[in-house]
Amino acid sequence: MKKIRWGILGCGGIANKFAEALQINEDAVLQAAAARDKARAAEFANKWNFKSSYGSYKELVSDPDVDIIYVATPHSYHFAHTKLCLEAGKHVLCEKPFTINAKQLKILIDIASNRNLFLMEALWTRFMPGIIKTKKLIDEGIIGKVITAEADFGMNFPFDPEHRVYNPFLAGGALLDIGIYPLFLSLYLFGKPKKLKAHSILDDNKIDLTTSIITESNSGTVSHLNSTTQANTHVKARIFGTNGNIEFDKWWFTPVNITLRTGDKEEVMEFSPIVNGYEYEAMESVKCLQENKNESDIMPLYFSMMLMEQMDEIRKITGITYPEEIESTAKPYGWNEL
Ligand SMILES: NC(=O)c1ccc[n+]([C@@H]2O[C@H](COP(=O)([O-])OP(=O)(O)OC[C@H]3O[C@@H](n4cnc5c(N)ncnc54)[C@H](OP(=O)(O)O)[C@@H]3O)[C@@H](O)[C@H]2O)c1
Repeated sequence: MKKIRWGILGCGGIANKFAEALQINEDAVLQAAAARDKARAAEFANKWNFKSSYGSYKELVSDPDVDIIYVATPHSYHFAHTKLCLEAGKHVLCEKPFTINAKQLKILIDIASNRNLFLMEALWTRFMPGIIKTKKLIDEGIIGKVITAEADFGMNFPFDPEHRVYNPFLAGGALLDIGIYPLFLSLYLFGKPKKLKAHSILDDNKIDLTTSIITESNSGTVSHLNSTTQANTHVKARIFGTNGNIEFDKWWFTPVNITLRTGDKEEVMEFSPIVNGYEYEAMESVKCLQENKNESDIMPLYFSMMLMEQMDEIRKITGITYPEEIESTAKPYGWNEL
């Protein structure tokens, strides 16, 4: 099988997790890492055994030995950085949320399509075996007709105006950072809702501290989806049907134990990750490139677009507002710093 040569763009927290996950992929070559600072990139490359390192993202995208780039920068830079990679002819796996709005995503999808390049959102939860199993159980009707579901993700982030969840120029807030996970779950399990209501508590910058969403699917399932950056919540998900229920343990978005209850029976299913959970999205990217596919069947672009459109709609309803600079499609935010 063809080996796939990886580049990493941005050497922060999540890039370290992803690089760790790449270590077990026998078809992945750890080719190059780039940070805005050369020494930082070299340190990262040395830690994870990448062959080369660069002190700018432009140098990374010019490396002819890199096939695919993992974009691991803050939300507001995804549009510029993914565009940079695609225009240099590189395949891209981009961290969530894909962009700030659906208009930006549409542009990226068009560039990838015109240039025949692979593009995928690194929404790691979609690739988790436990999540895939849950969808199968629901579709097979094991818990009957699904009446209601709940998913939440809340973490208490100490206030720091520069932190990504509070800084408007980094597209701070609960929805785009962590609320995307409960929203994803209901979209994946029950499809695009026919009705959606949402409410956010905003700070002085019009960034959401808390966002609650209620959806009704076409088949009548009501989902309660909560996210907050102000409290540590139980971070659980539960799905209730007419014949039973499915309950995820804490940190449901990277599930290890899932309990299935039907009648008097209770079964605990275990899904321990091979490394840290990021290996599955890496495996899917490698497989797609080996099969010359520009899009994943697991996480197709239409699904990312639907997710992005739903977040646009929720922001409109609740008043979450970002600076025009990061919403722009004409001037990608961060382009001038490259
Ligand atoms: N899938 C998940 O489980 C998961 C978990 C956490 C985060 N994420 C996503 O991953 C992305 C990055 O999050 P992170 O936690 O890794 O953030 P982080 O630790 O702050 O790292 C972000 C990196 O982006 C680069 N960068 C470029 N321009 C920047 C700027 N103006 N300000 C700050 N950083 C800048 C920096 O790279 P260099 O200085 O090295 O160039 C920095 O190391 C976010 O979009 C987030 O949603 C996903």
